Amino acid sequence: MRVLGIAGSPRRGGNTDRLLAEVMKGAANQGAETKTIVLSRLKIAPCQHCDACLETGRCKVKDDMQMVYGELERADRIVLASPIHFMGVTAQAKAMIDRCQALWVRKYRLKQPPLGNRQVPRKGLFISVGGTKLANLFEPALATVKSLFRVLDIAYAGELLFSGVDEKGAIAKHPDALYNAFLAGQRLVEE
Ligand SMILES: Cc1cc2nc3c(=O)[nH]c(=O)nc-3n(C[C@H](O)[C@H](O)[C@H](O)COP(=O)(O)O)c2cc1C
Repeated sequence: MRVLGIAGSPRRGGNTDRLLAEVMKGAANQGAETKTIVLSRLKIAPCQHCDACLETGRCKVKDDMQMVYGELERADRIVLASPIHFMGVTAQAKAMIDRCQALWVRKYRLKQPPLGNRQVPRKGLFISVGGTKLANLFEPALATVKSLFRVLDIAYAGELLFSGVDEKGAIAKHPDALYNAFLAGQRLVEE
């Protein structure tokens, strides 16, 4: 079982990073092989809508997204972590998501499995944190992430969402957030 963690925050060691690290520890504790990629350390250009992928299902832009496609293909479980930035996922996460348009093409136009053939379906978990406590704080990000998972045939395995958490590392003061993240990581590979 291979679990891919995708850190979408530009703030290293921040709240979503810490939650993601616990999820990955929980998964590793159940015997999973884990790998975390940090989007802010990668060069991923936004989709240019050049339509080159329409023929091939592959993006012609040769940047770090090419590595991410490979990691997505190899993963059995995907854990996407992004704080809320202006009511949505971060720019880093959105650039990666938009570059998955090439995989949309594979699925809906070329009628190919977006991430290659696989007997056991992939599953995905979403982690997010926002500084405010707005009632609808996570809705736009949830819509985006659920859309990504649906397009990539990744079954939605749930989410860890925390509002009112703003300062770097403040999530550690939450009574059980990190522990619940560890348990969610364990469950993700048990399911
Ligand atoms: C550019 C930017 C935009 C933000 N927009 C929102 C927002 O719309 N709503 C909100 O509740 N918090 C917002 N925040 C606060 C972050 O969601 C919050 O600080 C979160 O804990 C950061 O998580 P991280 O430590 O994983 O980066 C924003 C922060 C930044 C830097």
